[in-house]
Amino acid sequence: MASAEIPMNDSGYSLSGELCPIGNRIIHLKSVASTNDYAWNLACEGAKHGLVVVADQQTGGRGRLGRSWLSPPGMNLAFSLVLRPSLPPQDVPPLSLVAAVALFSSLSAEIPRLSIKWPNDLYCGDRKLAGILSEMKLCGRETDFVIVGIGVNVNSQVDDWPPELRSTVVSMRQAVGNTFDLRELLQKFLSSFHFWYERYRIHGFHGPVQQILVENSYLFGKWVTIAINSRTIQGSAGNIDEYGRLLVYDDRGICWPVVAGEATVMEMGNFEKRGDADDSCG
Ligand code: BTN
Repeated sequence: MASAEIPMNDSGYSLSGELCPIGNRIIHLKSVASTNDYAWNLACEGAKHGLVVVADQQTGGRGRLGRSWLSPPGMNLAFSLVLRPSLPPQDVPPLSLVAAVALFSSLSAEIPRLSIKWPNDLYCGDRKLAGILSEMKLCGRETDFVIVGIGVNVNSQVDDWPPELRSTVVSMRQAVGNTFDLRELLQKFLSSFHFWYERYRIHGFHGPVQQILVENSYLFGKWVTIAINSRTIQGSAGNIDEYGRLLVYDDRGICWPVVAGEATVMEMGNFEKRGDADDSCG
């Protein structure tokens, strides 16, 4: 992969004051346990904003909630970004949604029935096409760095998945019938991420980032169960608000703005959003 060094400070600004592109330095590994762990270690040693670690194969890829992520050799995209955002820690979690929006925009022209499943996944139809795992390190009360790890099922085929996953995951190849160039896809994603990251930094969630999420939400109108630590909320998924929270309307019409959690769709058919609650709750 091409790699060009641009002189900049730790927050990713060049000497001329512009934010350097994500991917200003790319480390390409044949095999690694997890690109997130590799990028984390480099960030601890001072790696700068915009570094990307990509691997042909992960032997210990990690997903959210302690799950594992399969990356068979040479077939799919597995990479991690090092970010040093000048954002307070509470504004960092929405960066996963920014990454989802960037991934969605870089793939939606090629992949039909693509949607964003709040908070971290891309779906094609009813199957998972990509997942995002973001991890943050604090320095006192400040954000030190964030690692955004992304796995996209690109060229794998049905036999590459273990039987228990075959009905729930899908690759781009399975979706459209042809293979894809991994380098091209990565480059496309990186410029898309740069674009959406800037929008988020300048305008926050409100505006174009929120609009893409709302218009392409997999969960909208579905009946969901969301586990939040020891509690569970059930209701109809509504929009995503200007803070990146999923609005869930329970059976009494009460709106619950959910900051983070794992949403499971219930097999009860789809529900219309209730008319007696608006989107500005919370
Ligand atoms: C999820 O769906 O739970 C998130 C999956 C994230 C997988 C990516 S692959 C690249 C990076 N390295 C990892 O170990 N995990 C992320």
